[in-house]
Amino acid sequence: MSLAEKIDMQRVPQHIAIIMDGNGRWAKERNLDRSQGHRKGLDVVHEITNDAADLGVKCLTLYAFSTENWNRPQEEVNALMALVVYGIERETPGMIANGVRLSVIGDTSRMPIDVQQRLQRCIEETSGGTRITLNLALSYSARWEITHIAQTLAREACEGKIKPEDIDEKLFASHLTTAHLNDPDLLIRTGGELRISNFLLWQLSYAEFYFTDEYWPDFNKESLCKAIISYQNRERRFGKTSEQVKNNK
Ligand code: IPE
Ligand code: IPE
Ligand code: MG
Repeated sequence: MSLAEKIDMQRVPQHIAIIMDGNGRWAKERNLDRSQGHRKGLDVVHEITNDAADLGVKCLTLYAFSTENWNRPQEEVNALMALVVYGIERETPGMIANGVRLSVIGDTSRMPIDVQQRLQRCIEETSGGTRITLNLALSYSARWEITHIAQTLAREACEGKIKPEDIDEKLFASHLTTAHLNDPDLLIRTGGELRISNFLLWQLSYAEFYFTDEYWPDFNKESLCKAIISYQNRERRFGKTSEQVKNNK
């Protein structure tokens, strides 16, 4: 029995978020430049998006570039920006053909204008895709997101558009960059680190976490299946007791 056959297709996580880590170490172990690790990582994004769609996952949010990653050496930042453009140009026709819809979250205004334009064009060209949403977190950090929402709500309160007591979880969540998506069911981090590095702090409140030592360039369909099987072996209680969950109360 293959790993994919062990998956209960009725209980596949609908939204998987992934911290794609380990590209640099993968390259270093092979005496390659870090950018070559990122390049291999792009190929894995292609494969995993299609594998996830085949397994019935409806949304994949990939942490591709964090706010803190702007502090990397300029050469690496430039290589990553160029890779985004290359990847979008290479992948857009296949995305349209395979029903993959692109979405982007993050402070993209910090990115070079040509990268912003290329992303925007891909978002428009793939907007009809219904098989899976590929949501890329670029220039993203959860503290940026939450601070930005606080500013927006404070401004609306000052302008008299809302009252402070109107701010509840629902209103707050409606301003998240992921307001068009359900919260992730499963978070995967590759590369062996046990942290979330400023990713989706609000949205991951009830996600199941899965960590693997595998570097992102080595991650494959088998790895994804293992993560999904681990997820399916857990009981999501959302604060309730196990008995309540089993009796659907
Ligand atoms: C993740 O790989 C990709 C990005 C953060 C852009 P890293 O580049 O962080 O790889 P390591 O952690 O140095 O191995
Ligand atoms: C997290 O990886 C960000 C992305 C995968 C894009 P990092 O490699 O930047 O995380 P830290 O710095 O080790 O926490
Ligand atoms: Mg890293």
